[in-house]
Amino acid sequence: MTPSPLHQILDYANRADPYPIYEELRRTPVHHEGDGPYVVSTYHEILGLLHDPRVSSDSRTVARTPHDPLAEPDQQESALPPSFLRLDPPEHDRLRRMTNRPFGPPHSPHRVDGMRGELRDIVTGLIDGIGDPDRFDLVDQFSYPFPVTVICRLLGIPREDEARFHTWADAIAASLDPDPDADPAERGKGAHDARMQLGMYLAGLIEERRRNPGDDMLSALATAQGEDGSMTTMELLSTAALLLIAGHETTVNLVTNGMLTLLRNPGSLQRLRADHRLAVPIVEELLRFEPPVQLVPQRVTLADVEVRGVTIPKGSSLWLVLASGNRDPRRFENPDRFDPDRRDIQHLGLGSGIHSCFGAPLARLEAQFALSELARRLENPRLLEDPPPYRRNAVLRGPRHLRIACDGIRA
Ligand code: HEM
Repeated sequence: MTPSPLHQILDYANRADPYPIYEELRRTPVHHEGDGPYVVSTYHEILGLLHDPRVSSDSRTVARTPHDPLAEPDQQESALPPSFLRLDPPEHDRLRRMTNRPFGPPHSPHRVDGMRGELRDIVTGLIDGIGDPDRFDLVDQFSYPFPVTVICRLLGIPREDEARFHTWADAIAASLDPDPDADPAERGKGAHDARMQLGMYLAGLIEERRRNPGDDMLSALATAQGEDGSMTTMELLSTAALLLIAGHETTVNLVTNGMLTLLRNPGSLQRLRADHRLAVPIVEELLRFEPPVQLVPQRVTLADVEVRGVTIPKGSSLWLVLASGNRDPRRFENPDRFDPDRRDIQHLGLGSGIHSCFGAPLARLEAQFALSELARRLENPRLLEDPPPYRRNAVLRGPRHLRIACDGIRA
């Protein structure tokens, strides 16, 4: 008997290339089996549900809904309230608005743009530190440390504490990517301890920033007194943890998938080396072609919802397979082709609707800097194994290692 599409998506054997499974899945745009989640795989249907107010992201609603094999009821593992990723309006909107004030337009149009110099320095420092060009692992030496350093700078973590922050982020990330050989109790404890220590550290820093604000985001959030009131320390802690977690593994995978795709498409790599401005369309096409967030689980219907003739009953759990929607031939011509010259590219890689990626401008800039500098500085880079070994995680999908050799590293 052929395993169900759901099991095929979760099966590690398919991690390197899940796209044929998605192609099969799109034959039934709303797939439902037994008491499992409703799996939605076509572009327009996913988009509609991402914008549908009858679909909830609230972790408290989701926790009451059984039968989602990806549900993580004790995800927070701490006393923190849910972050705005896992809340519905109006709580979601209030916290997102308050977090956006010091981050993006209209109040802070320069925050992300103002980080360009810092991003360039971080990228340069990491490439300088690669060491032996004959054999290095892009994940461990570049993609992994990169986003954590960026979040530290965004939040205003003192430089001398960044190493500790990296240790906690690594432990939390490891718990999101279960290693089958690791003892689950040990791993869970490691992540729990890291969350506690990170929480205590941030609580101390928040107190300090309330007394002594700087021009970083944590200071702005800690001292804000706007029309939405101010954030409690607990809200602030879960928001800071959200920015760290949501911006970590995702960016790691965008940069790593990006380099992998460019090495498989040397023509595009060559063009990027010759013209760094091509990084903009390349990153957009990557978010369509190899999206770091493959699917959005943990959504629940608050009413009966009809999609393509199927009634999804109230209280059902949904999986929205963004990566499949991005390859839907009814939306994108030649969807399995990596084509940075594609014009009409409204992909689902950063989600859509009220939960669409908060950090999108930063994520784009990070990936653009990283890929254009890697393309420029690595001389004649080659993949040492293809496909590379992947992480276990089917949702935040990406290589665990990307071993590369090159002839040298340009200044
Ligand atoms: C390449 C990198 C990234 C990708 C592919 C990505 C993707 C996504 C996606 C698909 C969602 C929607 C989740 C849903 O609908 O439930 C999302 C939400 C979110 N992302 Fe990102 N993200 C990236 C980087 C970042 C960064 C760097 C940050 C922080 C600075 C960030 C912060 C967030 C937050 C806070 C949310 C929740 C938004 C809400 O619920 O209103 N992301 N992201």
